[in-house]
Order: sequence, then C-alpha cells, then structure tokens
Amino acid sequence: MALNHKAQYIVTLVMVIIGLCLVKGELQTLTHHPAAQAQGSAGGLLSFVVVGDWGRKGMYNQSQVALQMGRIGENLDIDFVISTGDNFYDKGLIDEHDPAFEESFTNIYTASGLQKPWYTVLGNHDYRGNALAQLSPLLRQKDSRWICLKSFILDADIAELFFIDTTPFQDKYFTDPEDQVYDWRGIFPRRKYISTLLKDLDMALRESTAKWKIVVGHHPIKSNGHHGNTEELVAQLLPVLQANNVDFYVNGHDHCLEHISSQDSPLQFFTSGGGSKAWSGDMSPMNPEATKFYYDGQGFMSMQITREEVQVIFYDVFGQALHNWSTSKLLYSTL
Ligand SMILES: *[C@@H]1O[C@H](CO)[C@@H](O)[C@H](O)[C@H]1NC(C)=O
Ligand SMILES: *[C@@H]1O[C@H](CO)[C@@H](O)[C@H](O)[C@H]1NC(C)=O
Repeated sequence: MALNHKAQYIVTLVMVIIGLCLVKGELQTLTHHPAAQAQGSAGGLLSFVVVGDWGRKGMYNQSQVALQMGRIGENLDIDFVISTGDNFYDKGLIDEHDPAFEESFTNIYTASGLQKPWYTVLGNHDYRGNALAQLSPLLRQKDSRWICLKSFILDADIAELFFIDTTPFQDKYFTDPEDQVYDWRGIFPRRKYISTLLKDLDMALRESTAKWKIVVGHHPIKSNGHHGNTEELVAQLLPVLQANNVDFYVNGHDHCLEHISSQDSPLQFFTSGGGSKAWSGDMSPMNPEATKFYYDGQGFMSMQITREEVQVIFYDVFGQALHNWSTSKLLYSTL
C-alpha cells in the first residue's frame, strides 16, 4: 500500500539522517558575506551588535535597550545581531507556538536597524523550556531573522564565528538541578556530547583561515558578575581557544557588561548579558587584575571588524558609549 511505502520511506530517511549525524558530527557552517566593502584591495567591514539575557516581553528596560540597539545598529549598518542566549525568560519557550516568541522578540526588536539575521545560541533558561522549539524552522517562518542552533559556525569572510552550546558543560545543572527541569534531549550521553563538540571545535578552529576567530557561548569563561568564572569552561574550553589563537570569547549569562583581558595571551573575554533585567551591585570579582571594564547595568555591545582592526564598544540603556576598545593585527600576516 502507498501509505506503508511512504511510512517505510520516512523511517529509512530518518535512519539515514541519524546515521549521517553520528558519523559526521561536524559543526554546521553558515555563511554571511559582509555587505560593506571597505575601500582598497583586500578590504571588508563586518559590523554587528551583541545582546544577551533579554526575553522579558519588553520589561526591565528590554524595550529601551532594543531601541538603542536599533539606533546603533543603523548607524553602524550592521550585518547581523548575535544573541548570547537566555532568549526567553523564565523557562524558554513552551513550544513553537508559544506567543512569547513574538512578545519578547518580534514585537520588541522592531527597529529597522535590527531587521537582520539574528544568530542565536541557547542559554540555561532556554533549556528549562522546550529547547528544541527554539531550533525549529517554524520560528524562522514566523520571523525570518531567527537563526538558532545549538552549535554552529558562521563564516563571515574576515571573521569566523564559532557558536558553542555551553549549558551542557555545567555540572550543577545535572548534579544539583534544584527544582528546575531541563530539556536534555540530544545531550546524552553527556560526556560524549561535550567531547565531540570540543573535538569538532578544535578541528574547525585549526582549519580556519579567517583573520579573526571569535567564539560565542552563553556562559562566561571568565567573569566578575554574579556567576563568576565557569570552571568547567576554564578547564575544557579555554585550552582549545588558546591552542588555536582565538581572538575573542563572547558570552552572556551574567547580567552585566564586561571586558576581561588575558594575562598570558591576546584572548579577550567580553560579556554582553544586559538585554533586560540587570543585577546591579551583584558582583563576584574573580579577575581583578585583568578587568578592563565592568558595568552592572543594562546595555549591549557592538563589534566593527576590518582585516587590520577590531573596535568593541559597550553601550548603556541610553545608547551612551561606556567602553571603547580597539586592537589591531597589522603586524600579523594574512594567513
Ligand atoms: C532602567 O534603566 C535605568 C537607567 O540605567 C535604571 O535606573 C532603571 O532602574 C532601569 N529599570 C529597570 C526596571 O531595570
Ligand atoms: C571610539 O573610539 C574611536 C577612536 O578610537 C572613535 O573614533 C569613535 O568615535 C569612538 N566611538 C564612540 C561611540 O565613542
């Protein structure tokens, strides 16, 4: 019967897809060519803004931050937006039809400067709901800006960005979840999930010929915020970044804005977790000597990248620049 054949076909197809995933396990790569070409031969200009920890239906200044992101986004003619996770409070999305998607995303980030792709990872709060719902293509049908995967690579010519699913690294969500329930579908066996991810990241970083390498995750490696350093990431992720000359690690999770430098390498740590509710005065100064900037209010961050230079600016809820930092690679060769 036709129906049986169809069912059999689907089962076979699903098995083949699962098989491919098991065998390959490599990170999916998306491509985003920067729109603006700087003057000159090898020139290009990549601009984006980064926001984290935001989805509260406009409350806690989410709408004010969104407004300023739109203004800065338009000024800088950004190529895209990065979300460092904790996209929907308090427990992610219920499913693909959860109105929180519109209430906290589509209806909030309405500025014309923000009508760009949003490259998004999941935070721990997203895992407290239906984590897979945020990855669903149905959301992209509702709002074509939404691009959310657990881990992936974004090839943007001058820079390559490596988005990493950091929530499964944190032991306490597994050993001491308190009364939270996490959606761990696709994560078990956990040790294998993490080791495969680290291996894939290491390989992709090693093969990358991009001038600038940026890794993005929800949890900080280093932070002076409430949560402080994430020891699991210091132990497991940091060595991979250092071995591959990663330039920047960008995260959210701590509801603040901060810039921490490395003492022993050029790697810089940027926290942009001020998308809505901030934790004023709630600090855990673990990296005092390396801290270049710390702000415990709301806001976001921009990055402008050329082949030679990167400029990072943090803004508050009024769009006021709080920290303006740049670095250059003039002395390094292209490859
Ligand atoms: C909104 O931002 C202002 C300025 O930083 C701050 O004083 C105020 O407390 C914030 N409101 C909320 C609800 O976070
Ligand atoms: C940041 O600093 C650069 C110079 O390094 C300057 O040209 C730019 O206007 C500053 N931007 C803001 C928003 O302060």
